[in-house]
Order: sequence, then structure tokens, then C-alpha cells
Amino acid sequence: MRPMKNIVILISGRGSNMEAIVQAAIAERWPAKIVAVISNKAEAKGLEFAASHGIATAIVANKDYASRDEFDSALQQAIDFYQPDLVVLAGFMRILGAPFVAHYANRLLNIHPSLLPSFPGLDTHKKALEFGVKWHGATVHFVTAELDHGPIVEQAAVAVFSDDSESSLAARVLAQEHQIYPRAVRWFVHDQLQVVDGRVIVAATA
Ligand code: GRF
Repeated sequence: MRPMKNIVILISGRGSNMEAIVQAAIAERWPAKIVAVISNKAEAKGLEFAASHGIATAIVANKDYASRDEFDSALQQAIDFYQPDLVVLAGFMRILGAPFVAHYANRLLNIHPSLLPSFPGLDTHKKALEFGVKWHGATVHFVTAELDHGPIVEQAAVAVFSDDSESSLAARVLAQEHQIYPRAVRWFVHDQLQVVDGRVIVAATA
């Protein structure tokens, strides 16, 4: 195990989760380096933040590839150039194929804006409001071939209020995402995560 871990973060847009992770890595002096931020959209706002923090950026645009397999292998090549110990999906809005996921087994994390296994897929806040759940939230999990499944690393719950709109609920959840994603990545970086029978055990710090 290398003492310094290389982390590659994949984004598609705003990149606020990526920002929260970068800020935590700096503030908490993680034994890790965010070596690159890669986007599948050239216009992703988060690329500006990454570049302004001296992080290498790259664009692998899915629209430039005829098939998912071709896109996935181009993306994999771009990522592996940086020899990552961990790949972090932070608002990355493309479904990745099974070979890609297998290549990064146990070193690929995702954040999903719901309390999984409730509401996998898109429009989670809308679904939560329609269903009338009283609690909603976010989940950080290891990525497996099944969409929005995979061993759960951390979750945070927020109350749902009767006058919530999709955007008010999304904002409340996002604030929690910015807490749990850096925490989960910090655990990974410090080798505190172990997956046993599909469940994540978080070891205490030494
Ligand atoms: C987050 O809510 C994330 O959970 C979801 O998309 C949003 C991305 O936000 N998949 P950002 O790009 O990290 O600001």
C-alpha cells in the first residue's frame, strides 16, 4: 500500500462534492493527492475550481464515442494514466459498464442523493416528495455493476417538510452530501474501510 494515495474524481457538472473533498483533503492534510478531475462534459463548472487549485483536468466526452464500451475504455485509459488508488464519482451522470466497474473493484465510490436502497436512479428528490417519505438523505457506496447498489459506506438523513419543493429538499440533502462524502473518502485514504459479505466495516483510527 502506497503511503500517499492518488485520487481521481469524475464529475459532470457543478462539482460541489468534488470541491468539498478537495477542501477536506487540504484542511485535514490527508495522505492523499487529488491527481486529476475528469469530466464527461466540457462545460462542467467544477473543472474551473479544479484547475484553480492546481489539479490536472481532462475531458472525456461521451458524445464523442459511438458506444458505451468505447467511452468506458477511453475514460479508463484517461483515469489509469494517473495510477489512482481510488476513483470518486462526484455527480458523474453516466452509467458505467460492468468491465469498467470490475476494473476499479473496491476502489470506486459514488454518492447518491437518497437513502439507498430507496430511490435508485434519477429524480430522487421528486420521488421522495411523491412518495411522502418523512426522511430522505444521501448515501456513499462502493460501486458494483448494479446501478446505485453496492456496499454502503456512509449515509445521512434529513427531515422532509410538508412545504418542501424539490429544490429545497435537494439543498438540504446536498449540505449533508458535503459532510459524508469527504468523511467516507477520508476513511478510505486511512485504510479504515473493509467490505465483509457486502457490508462495510469502518475501523477506528489507530
Ligand atoms: C449531487 O446531488 C449528487 O449526489 C448527484 O448529483 C449532484 C451533483 O452535485 N448525483 P455536484 O456536481 O457535486 O455539485
